[in-house]
Amino acid sequence: MISLRVEPPSALPYDVHVGRDSSLLVNQSVPEGVSKVFVVSQENIPRVDLSLDADVFFSYVENGEAAKSLSVAGNLLEQMSKLSLGRNDLVLAIGGGVVSDLGGFVASVYLRGIRYQTISTTLLGQIDASIGGKTGVNLPTGKNLVGSFWHPSSVYCDTAMLDSLDEREFKSGLGEMVKYEFLGASGLSLTSLEDSIARCVSLKADFVKEDEREGGRRALLNYGHTFGHALESLGILGAIDRITHGEAVAKGIRFAAHLAHLLGRIDDRGLDEHYEVLSKFSLDISIPMSVTIDEVLPFIVRDKKSRGSITFVLAQSHGEPSVVRDISTNDLEAALQALHRYS
Ligand code: GLY
Repeated sequence: MISLRVEPPSALPYDVHVGRDSSLLVNQSVPEGVSKVFVVSQENIPRVDLSLDADVFFSYVENGEAAKSLSVAGNLLEQMSKLSLGRNDLVLAIGGGVVSDLGGFVASVYLRGIRYQTISTTLLGQIDASIGGKTGVNLPTGKNLVGSFWHPSSVYCDTAMLDSLDEREFKSGLGEMVKYEFLGASGLSLTSLEDSIARCVSLKADFVKEDEREGGRRALLNYGHTFGHALESLGILGAIDRITHGEAVAKGIRFAAHLAHLLGRIDDRGLDEHYEVLSKFSLDISIPMSVTIDEVLPFIVRDKKSRGSITFVLAQSHGEPSVVRDISTNDLEAALQALHRYS
């Protein structure tokens, strides 16, 4: 097992434990003073054998992203209140990103904030969502529009849980992992799963330590997400086949590489390198020919980092990617055409 420390500037440091059966540690590390543990999970999440030295209450929310809503959060808060959870008690989120975002959110607002821990059960959750303190729920108008920065007191990335993921869900995690290849963690496909997860966690911890509230460098963690989110949204609306978040990110990285190439930020070699890295993870990076810039544009403009102009995180030949603003729709159009021509 590998244990890594996250040191957010505004909160207490906490450890992330990566390895098979690391979730068993939760039994030994319930913080002092906790007499009640409120477990938030979903029916389709593997059960964890908890024998905690506290009263444990389970609440299962509906499967999938639909659980990340204000009404589900309100329901959980009412349950917590009826159970008389106190300021010293604990929320334990067991699941993927949906559950850690939701569990973290209710912990952050209940009694103005109580502690929470996460047992992360998906690859996507283990390398991204469960760490860094972003919690939240969706509104009908968009994802993660209500939330808080509230850090867990421990995170358990139990790699044994990943055995039960179906191939598509596992690959969704790999799609998110690819972004770290371009942010300083190369060779992730060549090492053990435990090691690659730990390297992603460690890199993310560096970003969070430097820029907890995403005023600057943390935005780079959204590499591939601008075009990716747009495709994901088109899938939800039924305009294209539904795709997972990680699939969307991988396709978004492909698009961002062509945009960076078109804008002269990377040369031919840099573009080819993007394809080489993506191919090492055996991801489906196809983008339907039917997708037009007009269709994706509303989502790109509404992206949280856009501030009204078309904004992307783009690679450059030297140094890490950076945030580029005021990109024209003509450039987006040309990048999409170049992408379809590339072979
Ligand atoms: N998922 C990106 C971040 O936590 O900043």
